[in-house]
This record gives sequence, C-alpha cells and structure tokens, in this order.
Amino acid sequence: MKDASPTAPQKIYLSDYQVPNYLIDEVHLTFQLAPEATRVRSRITFRPNPDATSADFFLYGEQLTLISAQIDGAPVTPTHVNGGLTCDVPSAPFVWEAEVEISPATNTALEGLYMSNGMYCTQCEAEGFRKITYYPDRPDVMAVFTVRIESDLPVLLSNGNPVTSGDGFAEWHDPWPKPAYLFALVGGDLIAHPDRFTTKSGKDVELNIYVRPGDEGKCAFGMEALKKSMTWDEEVYGREYDLDIFNIVAVDDFNMGAMENKGLNIFNSSCVLASPETSTDMNFERIEAIIAHEYFHNWTGNRITCRDWFQLCLKEGLTVYRDAQFTADMRSEPVKRIEDVIALRARQFREDNGPLAHPVRPDSFVEINNFYTATVYEKGAELIGILKTLVGDADYYKALDLYFDRHDGDAATIEDWLQVFEDVTGRDLSQFKRWYEQAGTPRLSVDEAFADGTYTLTFSQSTPATPGQDHKDPRVIPIAVGLLGADGNEVVPTTVLEMTEATQSFAFDGLSAKPVPSILRGFSAPVILERDSDNAERAFLLAHDTDPFNKWEAGRALARAGLVEMVLNNAAPDGDYLDAVLQVLRNDDLDPAFRALTLALPSQDDLAQTLVDLGHTPDPTAIYQALETLKMAMATHMQDVLPRIYAQYQVNEAYQPDAEQSGARSLANAALALISRTDGGAAAQAQYDSADNMTQQLAALGCLIMAGKGDAATAEFYDQWKEDRLVIDKWFALQISHAAPERAAEVAADLTQHVDFTMKNPNRFRATLGALAMSPAGFHRADGAGYALLADWLIQLDPLNPQTTARMCSAFETWKRYDSDRQALIAAQLDRILATPDLSRDTTEMVSRIRA
Ligand code: ARG
Ligand code: ZN
Repeated sequence: MKDASPTAPQKIYLSDYQVPNYLIDEVHLTFQLAPEATRVRSRITFRPNPDATSADFFLYGEQLTLISAQIDGAPVTPTHVNGGLTCDVPSAPFVWEAEVEISPATNTALEGLYMSNGMYCTQCEAEGFRKITYYPDRPDVMAVFTVRIESDLPVLLSNGNPVTSGDGFAEWHDPWPKPAYLFALVGGDLIAHPDRFTTKSGKDVELNIYVRPGDEGKCAFGMEALKKSMTWDEEVYGREYDLDIFNIVAVDDFNMGAMENKGLNIFNSSCVLASPETSTDMNFERIEAIIAHEYFHNWTGNRITCRDWFQLCLKEGLTVYRDAQFTADMRSEPVKRIEDVIALRARQFREDNGPLAHPVRPDSFVEINNFYTATVYEKGAELIGILKTLVGDADYYKALDLYFDRHDGDAATIEDWLQVFEDVTGRDLSQFKRWYEQAGTPRLSVDEAFADGTYTLTFSQSTPATPGQDHKDPRVIPIAVGLLGADGNEVVPTTVLEMTEATQSFAFDGLSAKPVPSILRGFSAPVILERDSDNAERAFLLAHDTDPFNKWEAGRALARAGLVEMVLNNAAPDGDYLDAVLQVLRNDDLDPAFRALTLALPSQDDLAQTLVDLGHTPDPTAIYQALETLKMAMATHMQDVLPRIYAQYQVNEAYQPDAEQSGARSLANAALALISRTDGGAAAQAQYDSADNMTQQLAALGCLIMAGKGDAATAEFYDQWKEDRLVIDKWFALQISHAAPERAAEVAADLTQHVDFTMKNPNRFRATLGALAMSPAGFHRADGAGYALLADWLIQLDPLNPQTTARMCSAFETWKRYDSDRQALIAAQLDRILATPDLSRDTTEMVSRIRA
C-alpha cells in the first residue's frame, strides 16, 4: 500500500522542529501473532505537553487496518490523514485504545513487524513503529512499555524484563522510558545460547543469544564479545547494564547490520554468527565490533536518545567512536586506525565528494533511512576523536560523565552534547560546531620553510562546495605533527597543532638542520592532506616514521604515486617502491598485520578519485591494468622472500580469531596472493585442499580464481557449503569480485539466475549486485552492461524493499568522475529508475540527489 498522493515527497527541516503536543506515561501492547493477520491492541496514557503550542492530536500509522479506537473507554471515529490519523481529544490526560491488524508475512520491506524464515521480528528504527500501531512515532516521545505476546511459538521476546509467561503467551515490562524506535518483538522456534554476567555493582544479568536450530554452534564468540563489551564499558566509561536480562537474536533477513532495541538487540545473522569453519578473521573482528556497538548504545542511544532524527550522529558517531576504542583495546590500536581510515576514505570521502554529500548533522531530509550514512556514522565518530584531541583525555571523560549525569533519560541534541564540553573545559566550541554543519572534506595544503634553526609549517585549509552549501568557513583542525632528523631519529615528538585560521603558520625552533615532517599523525582529523613531497621523503618516512599510521600512509602515498604514473604515462612499476615494500616485508620486527596492510595497494576507487583530484578523467580499465601489472612486478621482485614469509606466518596452532593469529594469516595470505601470480596456483590449491578454516579456504579460492584455476574449487566449495547461507553469500560475492572485469557483469547476471539467488534476502542481494557495484572495472564496463544490470535489479527490488534499494543506489554516486560516454550511460539508467511507476520515496530521493 503506497501513499495515493501524487505530490512530490515532502522535505523535513531541522529548523521546523516543534515539541510534541502530547506526552505519554505508559504504553500497553498486546500482540496476537498470525502471519497475515496479527492483531495489535494498544492502550496509551496521553497527557497534553505543557510546552506545546498546539493541541492537535496526530498519530502516525502506515499500512495498518484500524479495527477499533476508544478514548477513555468510549468508541471514537478518528479521521485518516496522509501517514496517520487525527482525532478530537480531551484537554486533560486521557487513555487511547486501538486495535489494528497487520500482515507480517507479506512485509517484504523488513520494516515494522515482519517474518524471516518462520520467525517474527521487528525493525523500528527510524520510523518503523508506525507500521505496528498508531503512535507518536518520534524519538522525543518516551514511554514505559508493557508488552503481552500471544502465540504458540516457544520463544516470545520483547524489551525489558520478563514478567510472566505461560502456555501461548509471554509478558515483558521495560521500566526505562524509551522512544518507539527502540521497541522490539521476536517470536519463533529459537534456541538460546545462555550465559550470565555480574555487573561491577553486583547485579546478576542473564544473557542469551537466540538463533535458529542448527546455528547453536556459532554463538560462543558473540557471547564472549558481549561480556567483554560489558566489562569494557564499566571500566572505560563507568557504564553498567541496567536490566535483569540482555537478549540478542540473529535474523537472516535484515536490512542493516544490527539494532540496539532496549534489552533485545536484533542482529543480521551475518553480524553475530561465527565459527572458524564458516567465518573469516575479518568477520570475527567485525562481529566483535558490532556486538560492542549495539551494547554500547544502551547508554549512548537508549538511556540518552536523540531529540529528532537530525541528531542521529549524537548516538551513532559517539557509539562508533566507542566501538573503535574497544576494538583498539581488544586488538591493535594502529591496525584498527589504519583499517578505519581506509574505510573512511573509501566510503565517507567518496560520499563527501559527490552529489550525496551532507553535513554530519543534516538540516533536511525526505526519508531518514537514507541518512544512515558513512558521514553520519564514520565522520560523526571522527568528530568525537577531534573533540577528544582538542580537550585532552581527562576532560573528555569528565565531559562524558557530565553528559550521562545531566542527560540520562533525555532526548538530546548536538547542542546539549557540545554544552557539556564547554561547561567542563570553559572552551568556546562554536568553531568546532562547523564540523557538524558543513559538508565536504577539507583540503589541507602545506608549505615548509627552514632558516636559522627554525622550521616553519604553513597550512591552508579549504573545503570545496557541496550540494546546497557553496561557502565554507575555516574549521578548527588538530594537526598532529612530529619531526624526524636526517638519520631517521625523531627530533620533535608528536605535537598537536591547533589550526583555526584559513592559513596559519607554526614554528619549531632550535633545530640544527631541516627536519623531515610527519604530518597528520594518527590521521588526527578527517582531511585530505595535499603535500608536494617526493618519493625519497615518502620512502624515508616508510622506513623511519615512529607513528605507525604515518609509516603506513607513506607507503600508500608511494604506491599511489607510482600507480598514477603507470596509468597516465604508461610508466613501469616504480623500483624504489618495490624496494621499500620489500624492506617492510622482510622486517620481522614489524607487526605482521601492519606488513600485510603495507603490502596491500590502494583500491581502484581510491585511484580513480586520486586521478580526478589531479585533474584527469579516470579510465577504470587502465586503473585495473596498472594494479595488475604492479602486483605482478611485486610478485617477481619479492620472489625470493615470499615463500619464506608464506611458510613462517602460516599459523599451525589451533585456530583463534585473535589479533595475533589473524595478523599472521593476513600476511601469509597476502604472500599467497603474490605467489599465485607466478606459480600457476599450485600453492593456493594446496592451501585450499588443506584449509580447516574459512580465512584460509576463502583466500585460497580467491587466488585460484585469479589464476584462472578456480573452476573445480568453486564447484567443490558450493557442494561443501550449500546448506550454509552465510558462506554461500561469500561464494556469490567472491566469484564476482574476482572475475575478470570484462566478465564480471555476466558472472553476476548468471548468478542472479542461480537457484540460491533471491532478492528477498538483503545479504544475498548485496552479495550479488553489491559485489558487482564494488568492482569498479567490471561495473564501469564501457558498454554499460554493469549499469544496466544493476538498474534492472534495483527496479525489481524497489517495490519489495525500498530501504535496501535506495542504499544500493549509491553505486552510482561517483558517476560525474567518468568520461561523457559513461556519464550518458549512467544518466540513462538513473532516468530509467526515476521513471519507474510508484517508485518508493526512499529510492526517488536517492536517485534524484545523485542525478542532480
Ligand atoms: N541504530 C542501528 C545501529 O547503528 C542501525 C539502524 C539502522 N536503521 C535504519 N533504518 N537505517 O546500530
Ligand atoms: Zn549504531
């Protein structure tokens, strides 16, 4: 059921915010579960908000069949309006009761109450609760929920603590007032992986991970991650858990990664189920981080929530920052930072540089689901990092204590957040606030001068215009700098320069010779550093920098420079680069994970953007070819040392997904990828045949496909894993990501015809069409076959699942980078999508913004 109204989707503005007209004390919900006719009865105690300027009573509601409604026990006939209903109500507190019917079994959008493999589950953030019952579905209306679920299914869960249960029913009560987006319900034939946790003040908490029968063996790692997260939040932020029970449920069909519903986190099964045989080291790291993220939301998101959806970064930026701190503590801080910056550049810089650029706190939207972005999440987390650098660790934790103290139980804003820092430090954060308001990635250029023992760095910042924002003011940028002497020793340790002007100089005196600067250590701010350094300086920093991030960054800059020469001028691979990387590879004093990261090359997408920044039009095929040529050169240049590395870093002990073992495996697998370019795939076949874990099996399969020897192993892999949907997702994605570019679109098209392909499962859809979109040379094939295939499927998916469709439209966001032929081909596909009758509001907004 779509809105019948043919009018353009309405834009919502932050500046239009109004407090709610009515507040709620208590909500009672009763669910009678049935696949196509679930009945939901609500009893809600409303009272007029003394701060409201209007007495109008409006409840959101979508795709609901209203059976009956009463106010204070007397039947009423509400007026249905677009997106909800209105009704005349008393001027004093009153009780609203309603009964509605909904159909979870036919809810393919996976928003509200839906079914996944016979189990009932919910996803209400951001605005899904209005598909469950009529309600003031906005985050600043918080209420205490009591929920009764009636069904014959053995497991019936909701938020809070269990009250009673019996034959065919269960009741739950959540004492913590919460907005409706944190509501959750689960019903199914599920198995619990139980455990317990005692909080630091001695509260005993029951923990469960609920999964479908057959998945019980994949819960132990997630449970350990949960307990570690609970301990970490107590130790680092002083935050304890606040209910008697904490449940996690794994769901196969889920639009996102996971959801922090109070006391009942719901996870995409790919983000919680783990076993050595079926999950890679990267999967384990990600699962640990997402479990932590959702758990940490209990304080940053649930106890303190957002006043409105424009404030989304208040909970997401902070929670991503917290989960990154957690991962750094559990694993390796430098490795986590490098991984995060790679992802930030790949997703957020890309977004910030294109038609979808928006501020970390947007000031308008059509569909809020389109703003769960890398900018809100990852750049939002970077802003917490900047703030912490500016105020220092001690004041950061003081400000956080004040934040929890002052705003517990509130629906807060970015202004509230900044105020606690101002109150604790006495600083004026108005310039810092621009980071939340201005879209776009600042460019930071650097000049250096040396005279009479004084070394001066002069920085200039500027941010290109973004949609709707032409003018940008200078921001406060913490620039962490260290200086090295010619002998490689550090002459000035890391110092944070606080840049506030458009152009600003910083002097270091008492130096005996001109130093080599290491700028933006630890990636101290999300900016693009434009420095004209030469390869000799980059090689020097790769060899000597004491800051692990900048050491890695120097290697990356060296690789990028060489690749640009190869693409633009048909240059041969840079011998200095090959030597420098060989030194790193050989150096057993360096962390194997760091060496693997140094061996990895910039992505095709990274190089395309680099070329654009240099004023060129990127040719996806030439970029792909340059990378292939360089990898071949690395394989031959390092031929003597690769077998030693490969043998030495194979892990022979029992599999552990920890940082140490996974670092070693990543180096061994990086070596294997190079070896496979010269040995015809023999080593990869041997690893494939003997692998007892998915990290090694999948890496070997990838190498075999690249070597053109993958057919047998691909077929075997399918036979081995056809019953495991998460492993089969990997099988779909790998064949596409490792296909020769000219074949990738056909491989993807063929896989959409495979019996195991279904567009109803977002993971499978992303594993297929998403994998194509993320393989630039294949996706940007000159004849447009990649574009057409993706558009075909987006058009088919949109009526079923607008959220996942809209999200995947960002595959086209870089289209203006490319040549006019490709632009015309993409424009035609965007127009075709936009011309689709009844296109969802989600997809309409995304495609219109991209096309603009
Ligand atoms: N709050 C969830 C998380 O980041 C994500 C929910 C996304 N929901 C959505 N409709 N986009 O942990
Ligand atoms: Zn989150």
